[in-house]
Amino acid sequence: MRATINGVELAYADHGQGTPVVLVHAFPLSREMWEPQLDALSPYCRVIAVDLRGHGESAPVRGKLSLDDFADDVVGVLDYLKLPRAIFVGLSMGGYTLFALHRRHRRRIKALVLADTRAQADTAEGREARFAMIRTAEEKGQGAIAEIMLPRLVTPHSLQHRPDLTQRLRAIIERNPVATIVADLRAMAERPDSVSLLGEMEHPTLVIVGELDQGTPPADATTMAEGIRGARLTIIPNAGHLSNLEAPAAFNAAVLEFVNGLR
Ligand code: MLT
Repeated sequence: MRATINGVELAYADHGQGTPVVLVHAFPLSREMWEPQLDALSPYCRVIAVDLRGHGESAPVRGKLSLDDFADDVVGVLDYLKLPRAIFVGLSMGGYTLFALHRRHRRRIKALVLADTRAQADTAEGREARFAMIRTAEEKGQGAIAEIMLPRLVTPHSLQHRPDLTQRLRAIIERNPVATIVADLRAMAERPDSVSLLGEMEHPTLVIVGELDQGTPPADATTMAEGIRGARLTIIPNAGHLSNLEAPAAFNAAVLEFVNGLR
């Protein structure tokens, strides 16, 4: 499906019926990362997976992007579909986008799933690493970014023994233009700290993290779960950063139990 949202043509998938559950993808990926969730969740709810502007099959972007743009686009898709509220699931950069969505559109939130993400802004060192990755993207292209990112996205075990998964991820990364990758990295480097927001967050919230996630480890998930009143924490054994792809059964079960508990 396609729709023009805030002046940009966005691609999205819309499967199933009932409570809307909106999936927001990670860096430097696209809605394709949510394939196991679309299949498993859509018999029980309406699952909408958006390609953020510049990513996947959405129109390319020129110039700067911010997480606020992403949040406005996700809400724009809800407006387009005439849906007042939704359960939002964001993984990593998708989670950063949900903090922006909370700042700008909190009335549209029914509940949140914050997966393999963190509330803290980048450290000075983290920002420097983003700028180094921007230079790599500009000089060497998407293939070099895939090389850097794959060991961060999945566990060493998956890297060695799951060529199906790593090849699919590489293809998703390489389909995103360099301009998008650069714009994402700038947007993430500039994102505000959201730790002070946690105390104001009152929607039902599930925090999910892969036990072996190194980029946004269980300690970061614990900070969010302890900071948001009533939040639940699920740690998925043997999964890394992309817990939804490395352990889809456990991820889907956690999300479904949470969604069913809201009814
Ligand atoms: C992601 O998976 O979205 C990124 O690894 C997030 C980040 O680099 O902070």
